[in-house]
Amino acid sequence: MTTTVQREFNEAPKLDAKATVHAIPPCVVHDTPVLDVLDESKTYGDFRDDLARDGFCVVKDVVEKEKALAYANDIKTWLEGFGLGYKRDDPSTIREECLPIIHQKGLLQAYGATHESFTWAVRSEPAVIDVFATLYQDKDLICSFDAVNVSLANRQDLPANAAWPHQDQDPERGGLRCVQGFVNLLPNGPEDGGLLVLKGGHKVSEEYHNVFRNEHREFRWTNEMYLFKETGLKWLADRGYEWVKVNAEPGDLVLWDSRCPHYNASPTRDIDRFVVYVCMLPVSTATQEDLIRKKALFEAQDGHSHWPMALQPFIKAFLEPMRDGKPDPHNTWKPRKAPELSEAGYKLTGIPFIKA
Ligand SMILES: [Fe+2]
Repeated sequence: MTTTVQREFNEAPKLDAKATVHAIPPCVVHDTPVLDVLDESKTYGDFRDDLARDGFCVVKDVVEKEKALAYANDIKTWLEGFGLGYKRDDPSTIREECLPIIHQKGLLQAYGATHESFTWAVRSEPAVIDVFATLYQDKDLICSFDAVNVSLANRQDLPANAAWPHQDQDPERGGLRCVQGFVNLLPNGPEDGGLLVLKGGHKVSEEYHNVFRNEHREFRWTNEMYLFKETGLKWLADRGYEWVKVNAEPGDLVLWDSRCPHYNASPTRDIDRFVVYVCMLPVSTATQEDLIRKKALFEAQDGHSHWPMALQPFIKAFLEPMRDGKPDPHNTWKPRKAPELSEAGYKLTGIPFIKA
């Protein structure tokens, strides 16, 4: 029988050191503050009620639908621009040799996607920033330099994405510390793949990790990631927690508590799934060293994980897209052109908050 281990959060992990890597350079580990911003006993009258109760929410119409569809079109133009043969109107070109390398999870971190014009345009949308400012009651925010998801429907040459339930927060650090999100760019209904979330899973997170904290864990490139195993999923199902497919329209902003188990599923009919991941936190959660690291990443047009303080810069050795067994020559890690940011967008880089 599994016993609950009482412990303090942020104490040194008691895990099998041989099996677990908590952060490999250039990843850094430091504490992240618990955000005292959501109280389920309160009524906010907006998206925060859903987020506090369910661990996720859909904020409707944050970006105008026509604008969201235009961003999706720009992504298609970008895909065509590699000159590999992909044509948006020709289904026979929806295959690897005609496209940048996109694995079955749809995540694109390479090819400069992190700093593409459509990515920055979505991050800089005033209403997107406003949602996070409302959530944190703080206008001084920094944004992740994270991926986009380009899951093309009708990929005959890719297996469907297997479920990979995970959370994107260190299981050793409990409490609400990060709210992740994406802006959805194309219609996404029950049959269209996309995000699945374990509804309410954030509420049982600390109890869960007390029970499972000494389980065997495989290699992790960062401590801010935890993959659920069958035993853990059964434990959650036995307590009544259920998976929910999150549906969204173009321009909706989907948010979830980083403790909430989640994964994405491949499209199952004819509609592509394009999203831009957007995760913001108050700049006060970052150290000056974080901001200096983030500035260097911005200047090199490199990316990092969802943690806006750049705790986990992309590790190119892990993310390098391979074509025919070799690094894809079409990947330069650079966007089509250097990002041109609005004042609000530039603030999100954190650079204006670096002390001289
Ligand atoms: Fe995730």
